[in-house]
Amino acid sequence: MAGEPLMPPIHLSVTYTYDVEGLLEGGWTGYSRESNPTVEELEARLAALEGARWALAFNSGMAAITGLLLGVARGRRIILERLTYGSTRLLPPLLGLEARLAGPPWDELLHEADSCSGGVVFVESMGNPTLRIPPLEELVGIASERGCLLVVDNTMATPAALKPLKLGAALVVESLTKYVVGHNDALGGSLAGLDPGLRAPIWEARRLTGTILQPFEAYLAIRGLETLEARYRLQSATALEVARWLEESGLVKRVYYPCLESHPDHARAQRLLGGLCGGVLSFDVGTRERALEALSRLRLVKPSASFGATKPMAAYPYASSHRSLPEEEKKRLGITPGLIRLSVGMASPQEIIGDLERALKTH
Ligand SMILES: Cc1ncc(COP(=O)(O)O)c(C=O)c1O
Repeated sequence: MAGEPLMPPIHLSVTYTYDVEGLLEGGWTGYSRESNPTVEELEARLAALEGARWALAFNSGMAAITGLLLGVARGRRIILERLTYGSTRLLPPLLGLEARLAGPPWDELLHEADSCSGGVVFVESMGNPTLRIPPLEELVGIASERGCLLVVDNTMATPAALKPLKLGAALVVESLTKYVVGHNDALGGSLAGLDPGLRAPIWEARRLTGTILQPFEAYLAIRGLETLEARYRLQSATALEVARWLEESGLVKRVYYPCLESHPDHARAQRLLGGLCGGVLSFDVGTRERALEALSRLRLVKPSASFGATKPMAAYPYASSHRSLPEEEKKRLGITPGLIRLSVGMASPQEIIGDLERALKTH
């Protein structure tokens, strides 16, 4: 058909007409806090990409995790990987829910998951900032034996590298804010799954808390999906080159990147991510003073939160994403005062290496 648009329209209308008979049968009330055609278009695309039967979009990653906790985790035992995003760790207690923390080390997580008995096990496919990859295959087996829901926050690996539902997870969370939107200009989150029985309570939680994604942001996420895989591949190649250079440079104490042989979860990364470890790597410069000095000397790489967007960014997890953790817990997770997390963005490896070399070579 001539004149067909290649990209979908943005439906800003908050209300839509309904037919009263359909309404009596429980149909859509035509109100955008429940659903919206642009949001539904994004959800259909996300579901197809994740290998899901349904997806629901929220106005941030944290809103999606709130939907999960209120919709399906309430009243169940919750086991949370220690190395989840700082705000994810803080959310259950805010909602009056208790979460048991476990792993890394992965033996601790597997042991705790073994007693999940009908509960929820929540992990990240790649945990920030040390990029640990939990034993997903073993967790899928335990969750199915013990009747538990395995939930994977896949923000760092993205569906471009990993599809947790295909491995056997019950639900997948994405902070769309990062790689999916990809340009640092919209917040968003999603939950996707196979079982329609899980969708209904999450949908109800989203409706009642008013946390649905807005249409313009939904459009930006749709646009981001058009280039997600290409951007993720490029950023993965850049990050690997930068990580190798850093490791050989002698300028830093330690580099964390799962595609490096030195990473504790390297074998799992190769198997699960197929050599696409994403655009984020971390390195330890030894002390807080050296970290602050390096951050202040960077020019191209901007000191800022978030990751996965086009601009190269460096974060200081010790005082930002993980600052709420007790000192002992930070130490245990390797979140040291000398740790810097780098998101390479769309800059070339040479540009980033040049910036890092100048910032780290102080003599
Ligand atoms: C792994 C992970 N999950 C969830 C979130 C929360 O996402 P948002 O900032 O979109 O609420 C973040 C944010 O940094 C994250 O890194």
